[in-house]
Amino acid sequence: MTDARMRALIDRLGGLAYGGDYNPEQWDPAVWREDVRLMREAGVNLVSLGVFAWASLEPEPGKYEFGWLDEVMDLLHGNGIAVNLATPTAAPPAWLSQRYPEVLPVMADGERFGFGNRLHYDPSSPVYREHAAAITTRLAERYSFHPALAMWHISNEYGPTAYNEAASAGFRRWLRRRYGDLATLNEAWTTRFWGQVYTDWDQVEAPGVPRTWMNPSRILDFKRFTSDTLLECFVAERDIVRSFRDDIPVVTNFMRFYRHADYWRWAPEEDAAALDIYPDPADPDAHVSAAFQFDLFRSLKGGQPWLLMEQAASAVSQWRLNVVKEPGRMRLGSLQAVSRGADSVMFFQWRAGRGGHERFHSAMLPHSGPDSRTFREVAELGREVGRLSPVAGTTTRAEVAVLFDWDGWWGLEELWGLPRNDFSYVDTVMRHYRPLWEHHYAVDVVSPHSDLSRYKVLVVPNAYLMDDRGVGAVTEFARRGGTVVMSFFSGVVDACNRVRPDGYPGAFRRLIGAKIDEYWPARPGERFAVEFSDGSTATADWWREDLHLETGTALATYADGLLRGRAAVVANAYGAGRVVYFATLLEAGAFERVLIGELRAAGVADRFHGLPAHLECTVREDERHEYLFLLNHDPGTPVTVPLESVGTDILTGRPTSGEITVPPLGAAVVRRVRQA
Ligand code: GLA
Repeated sequence: MTDARMRALIDRLGGLAYGGDYNPEQWDPAVWREDVRLMREAGVNLVSLGVFAWASLEPEPGKYEFGWLDEVMDLLHGNGIAVNLATPTAAPPAWLSQRYPEVLPVMADGERFGFGNRLHYDPSSPVYREHAAAITTRLAERYSFHPALAMWHISNEYGPTAYNEAASAGFRRWLRRRYGDLATLNEAWTTRFWGQVYTDWDQVEAPGVPRTWMNPSRILDFKRFTSDTLLECFVAERDIVRSFRDDIPVVTNFMRFYRHADYWRWAPEEDAAALDIYPDPADPDAHVSAAFQFDLFRSLKGGQPWLLMEQAASAVSQWRLNVVKEPGRMRLGSLQAVSRGADSVMFFQWRAGRGGHERFHSAMLPHSGPDSRTFREVAELGREVGRLSPVAGTTTRAEVAVLFDWDGWWGLEELWGLPRNDFSYVDTVMRHYRPLWEHHYAVDVVSPHSDLSRYKVLVVPNAYLMDDRGVGAVTEFARRGGTVVMSFFSGVVDACNRVRPDGYPGAFRRLIGAKIDEYWPARPGERFAVEFSDGSTATADWWREDLHLETGTALATYADGLLRGRAAVVANAYGAGRVVYFATLLEAGAFERVLIGELRAAGVADRFHGLPAHLECTVREDERHEYLFLLNHDPGTPVTVPLESVGTDILTGRPTSGEITVPPLGAAVVRRVRQA
């Protein structure tokens, strides 16, 4: 199932990719030779080259300097290191904005962004796009068939939102395509409210900073437009490099929990999803959030291997306090990505820079040189990544899916005017994911438009905004026998951000078997007692709903307050399936009990039952083998794991049978022949 271009990359590299961003343009050529020598020592087989090199490749308009890049490409190739060549279009040179100031983005507050920042371009600007296409074409002409070239890395972390005139013009074009005529737009945006009716397309502008309150449907569409505009930039450059050669992967690097680009819409346009992730070593829970993102990235292309494109070898430099990754943590985080489907372990960056904003960002080769803890760990990891080569191309099978949707995210967070305006979509998703992670369930992440047929349980966290197609898919999933676990404030508005008719939750009233009369967000500090039908009790806070049962039955009711006796958790039979709906924010332990109980009742395999939460257990597999990854996140206690059959720990090459002990912060990857 792996994309043919990715398969070819894996074959070429002989397994997983290992390496990082390489910026030779910042260094004297004498250093390049030392670089490749040390890269070989560290087991590097792929580098991302030229990411911000536009100013070095085209120092003056139309005057190209490729000599240095020729030399570096040849040098890398001569040393057996493949190249993930970047188009440098994330960093337009100074001459471009001097000549054409309109390429600099105007921010939401109307201020123009000056040169000398980062991401200093308006993605809607025709001038930016024309020049980006020109440099991309020149690179593709010159390097498409260079023997070092293994992959194209388009731009870098697509991100900017601009409010220039070009953005407004682009927004109008996008709206015309979506709605056709102004009457439909006015209807979709409910513009009769506050007399915001448009009578001419030119009256519609990019929204900017709200001076009072803005039309929520307009803001929502502007988010969609911005994501689509950045995607157009990616597709334009991708198509240029593909027109020269179409047998190598073309990717761009996405960011962790990035709200401004809908990765579900992007992923089909890429050969692999690629992630840059910088979990904060000071956050003891960072690996749980990383696990979710790794699952998301595996799921973006339906289970195909994805690429860990950037991570830090040790500390970053972006926070107020940047602590180191303690010994063993970089290895564990890297293996964690591989355990959840990554076919690469890549870093930002190869050699630590001497100047510039990120001069204290760690690197595979730190300021202290090869005789350093970091380089020793990097070189050791390089050897291990080599041993993991059989894992490349394998995937993970999950019976549980968690819904994660950019439309829903924007609906909850971009706008005011909700019953409460402090929702954090990521926090709510993580509250639902954490118990699944702690119980070692394999989880896929899905959009409302994904194929849901392979799952037994679908978890739907606070899905406030969902389009009709998504609503149909969730409903159909239950009707055909699936279990839906859904939490409050879901199914409220349509794709245009209009409250659905027929009482709350308009989209899911029949599905949950209850009607909600009113949303009752909690007052600050307010807590509620909840009593389950088995007599157990729990507390809840933050949110309540005045819920009236129709076909549903109460699993738990409020035991105090004005809603005493009303359902707080509802179960409903729907078609051949079952739906459990949480109308309040239950304390974590009680939520976990209900959720995990539903997974068990739905027959989801519970293979790692009883193992401690801090021992992360995941499986990658192909037709013949399975690879059991055991990662011990605890720094103090070893964990002994019983094994069902004989195998080999491919990190050590040692045979395994009976049981295996994973040391503190240690790992094992047990390969076994799959049972029929
Ligand atoms: C991002 C970028 C890199 C670098 C790193 C480290 O992921 O793509 O260019 O800035 O962050 O901060």
